Amino acid sequence: MTPEAATERNLAVARKAPVIPVLVISDAGRAKGLAEALVAGGIYALEVTLRTPDALAAITAMAEVPGAIVGAGTLLSPDDARRAQDAGATFGVSPGSTEKLLDTAEAIGLPMLPGAATATEAMWLLERGYGFQKFFPAEAIGGAPALKSLAGPLPQITFCPTGGITAANAQTYLSLPNTVCVGGSWVAPNDKVAAGDWAAITALAAEAAKLKAT
Ligand code: 3PG
Repeated sequence: MTPEAATERNLAVARKAPVIPVLVISDAGRAKGLAEALVAGGIYALEVTLRTPDALAAITAMAEVPGAIVGAGTLLSPDDARRAQDAGATFGVSPGSTEKLLDTAEAIGLPMLPGAATATEAMWLLERGYGFQKFFPAEAIGGAPALKSLAGPLPQITFCPTGGITAANAQTYLSLPNTVCVGGSWVAPNDKVAAGDWAAITALAAEAAKLKAT
């Protein structure tokens, strides 16, 4: 898969809802219920981070939920990309970008949303063909003003900022000209997931789904 095709595919996925939940799942037994709760609230693209032993099993369980588009996050190595795809992930997200990771993802046909934090990193990815990038860690590297500043010289790049985004600041990002969606963990708080409080998560998802990328 070319970077251009990956960009096009991930932009189409990102446009389905304004928020991509960033999920750290410690119990795969909770994964199906969580995905169903998020989809019921109108949030479809779900990023399961490869940060827990249960992450791959969670991806497999969530991929069976109708309406869910399940991706894998925190991809750091070629092996991560392969394992994520084998588990059922249909897109990949990485906090930064390496040639080895992108080479593998392109070879196996896993569309990447690769991370950038600076103009140089964004330009490097653009040169490779990735016009849609994760802006990470958004709040810590200057937040919405920093991301807005990239729109001047780099208007051809679209971003999904993540890192420190909440219900309170998400709309500020979504109102930027170069932002199509945001990523964040606030829609699936650990205590609600652990308790299986799916109604609360559907309510958070429904609030998030009302946000608008303008
Ligand atoms: C991450 O990779 O941890 C995401 O950027 C989520 O960050 P958050 O927990 O601050 O939403």
